[in-house]
Amino acid sequence: MKKVLSGIQPSGQLTLGNYIGAMQNFVKLQNDHECYFMVVDLHAITVPQDPAALREQSEAVATLYVAAGIDPAKANIFMQSHVRGHAELGWLLTTLSYMGELERMTQFKDKSAGKESIGTGLFVYPALMAADILIYNADLVPVGDDQKQHLELTRDLAGRFNSRYGDYFTVPEPYIPKIGARVMSLDDASKKMSKSNPNPGSFIALLDPPDVVRKKISRATTDSGREVKFDPADKPEVSNLLSIYSHCAGLSIEQIEAKYEGQGYGAFKKDLAEVVVSVLEPLQQRYREIRESGEIHNILRQGAERAAAVADQTVRDVKERMGFLLP
Ligand code: AMP
Ligand code: TRP
Repeated sequence: MKKVLSGIQPSGQLTLGNYIGAMQNFVKLQNDHECYFMVVDLHAITVPQDPAALREQSEAVATLYVAAGIDPAKANIFMQSHVRGHAELGWLLTTLSYMGELERMTQFKDKSAGKESIGTGLFVYPALMAADILIYNADLVPVGDDQKQHLELTRDLAGRFNSRYGDYFTVPEPYIPKIGARVMSLDDASKKMSKSNPNPGSFIALLDPPDVVRKKISRATTDSGREVKFDPADKPEVSNLLSIYSHCAGLSIEQIEAKYEGQGYGAFKKDLAEVVVSVLEPLQQRYREIRESGEIHNILRQGAERAAAVADQTVRDVKERMGFLLP
């Protein structure tokens, strides 16, 4: 069975972008792959986090995995920090990485732009991400479009290790959705929808109550025309809303265009809000049930145990190949 790994940072409220770009594919892949889905808390601390908020968001993201349909009987769900091998292999791979390649990472450039002091964790972060993936010898990594460059680096580091120390790591492939790989902000279609955007009107959080979702969608920026048409170059805002609609309703873009022909944006946005609410409401209901039951802690413990068994062996093998004196 092919192996799948992915992770989401507990650095804010998860958005519809995380759901469409990443989590929906996690759910799809769990049936016929060996899956590892983490909450990447070690990545979240590459920018300052309030301890209480980090703990709350970590539990929230893990719970959302299950609420979104990831089944702990099929996939390993765990906290990155509960499996020590990630930090350890992260360091070993950091020593194989070059300043130049890390400096080229656009996420690093974006997150460090305009800052006076830039954390070194933020800089070496892609080597830790490579460790996350390579430690399980994952074949496939379901992510949104913004992670493509980090995946490329992971592939380079795997190849570098293999050529220096002998073939060991699987060189992983990204698994990116065709539509929805880049869900854009509701207020600015040139930026991706992001949980770290200070304007909450720019994103739909998975835990936004239905009325908030309706308000945010009705206020979403659109052009001054009235034709509901998929045209990313000339109508980026409407095109973004169309791809959200398509994902949430399971309809093709053409079907939706035909449905709203000659009707203007009002009716389209109103229906879109209901389509999104119909996806989020059951998810939120399951979320509340799981939070109340406290069962996520057991799920995370079991997930980490199974993951650690694989991870520990990889770290041992890697250290042996690199010439460490083993205990
Ligand atoms: P992050 O929230 O940065 O930890 O991202 C977690 C996962 O969600 C990654 O696979 C991202 O590529 C994906 N993702 C985040 N935001 C978006 C978005 N606006 N559109 C599509 N995918 C996204
Ligand atoms: N860097 C990813 C992001 O910002 C999160 C992440 C960390 C990840 N480790 C990973 C994604 C391993 C996929 C696989 O979204």
